[in-house]
Amino acid sequence: MFERSRRGENALLVQPYAGAADPALLEEFSELARSAGASVVDTVTARLARPNPATFVGSGKVDEIRMRCEAAGADLVLVNGMLSPVQERNLEKALSRRVVDRTGLILDIFALRASSHEGKLQVELAQLKHMATRLVRGWTHLERQRGGGIGLRGPGETQLETDRRLLQKRVEQLEARLDKVEVQRTQMRRARVRNALPRVALVGYTNAGKSTLFNALTQSGVFVADQLFATLDPTVRRIEGLDCGPVVLADTVGFVRDLPHELVAAFRSTLSEARDADLLLHVVDAADPLRDERVGQVDAVLAEIDAGEIPQLLVFNKIDRLDEPAQPRREQPVDGAGKVWVSARTGEGLALLREAIGEAFAGNRTQGKLTLAPTQARLRARLHALGAVVGEVVDEHGWRLQLDLPRVQAEQLAREKGGDALEALLAGTSAPTYNP
Ligand code: GTP
Repeated sequence: MFERSRRGENALLVQPYAGAADPALLEEFSELARSAGASVVDTVTARLARPNPATFVGSGKVDEIRMRCEAAGADLVLVNGMLSPVQERNLEKALSRRVVDRTGLILDIFALRASSHEGKLQVELAQLKHMATRLVRGWTHLERQRGGGIGLRGPGETQLETDRRLLQKRVEQLEARLDKVEVQRTQMRRARVRNALPRVALVGYTNAGKSTLFNALTQSGVFVADQLFATLDPTVRRIEGLDCGPVVLADTVGFVRDLPHELVAAFRSTLSEARDADLLLHVVDAADPLRDERVGQVDAVLAEIDAGEIPQLLVFNKIDRLDEPAQPRREQPVDGAGKVWVSARTGEGLALLREAIGEAFAGNRTQGKLTLAPTQARLRARLHALGAVVGEVVDEHGWRLQLDLPRVQAEQLAREKGGDALEALLAGTSAPTYNP
């Protein structure tokens, strides 16, 4: 990976636009290119009312791109759009250079970043599927050095000469393996549910500082890099010392605008950490001039994966980077998500954030009396282990417990085998109104 980034490829970027050109789009795309290890040597914008079915951009633009590639010494063309296999192939022919579209580029970064077994399998599968459509007409139109490079990493180098049947076989193999991993993951999640700890997930636009915050809150050392998508695989740890008792915190993959649909499907494991959470910490780079738009883009992805209804706490991170240094603070609007201003790097505001997380759960407690028969000793032991029992007397009916526990915990326990006794208690208390 280091080898590849160091070698670097000289890329020319093509940014199509419909109405007025938006420099932010190009800026974001350049950042993606750099994350894949490329050096951006030139950029070309192309006004595009309707994409040309054969070459995406018009023929005059193709000529311009070729000349600019030659002048700048670009050996790769990255197009910020979705190319059909035909368009990609025609462009490669006309430009005598490799052409990679937005999906190909994002897949490539994912291939570089995936570290877990499951993450790697998912990336390979997504790449193979993306590639399968492009294999139909063969790759012989370009004499390429298949030594790897942007758009070619992962399975590309070895699979190109093999026939499609082999490719199909590999896809099936990967799918079977992933199914197995998925089963294991579900079992792991069940084990976690059995612990009945509230679940919190970090979500946010790529590079917002999720991993840094994850480390700061859990004092662990996961990989943090000034690159996009540093975290592809869900990482889960406990946060201790909160008012509401321990919670589990999951870090998730960074979101990006127009995340290709095939990727949303491919990264279901990391995204499911967000979907299953009781509370989302939506991390925002406070110093990003586009921060409000980013919040909207992340919310759009969350809605797409059915996580739009989960309560959120907005965490404005990197306050140390603001031109007007901001004080760490907490805002609790009457409606809408609560906001906390922090710096994961300097640690400012983290105490306020911990307080807010604690309150989000502690404010929603289930309290009441519950009588358990001698046959329900297991549930009683679980409640004791969670510190939920505040009083207990034993008489001829069994144990009479006085309980006080976070509502999410009570709900999770109620879903477990033998936990139905808690349902009456839950029914008697008000519905959860999170107050992050
Ligand atoms: P993805 O994995 O791409 O989604 O990124 P991420 O959101 O996990 O971001 P990460 O934690 O990797 O941080 C991105 C960059 O921002 C790194 O260079 C961090 O050191 C930097 N960073 C994170 N938090 C802060 C902060 O509070 N202040 C400053 N100045 N930099 C920060």
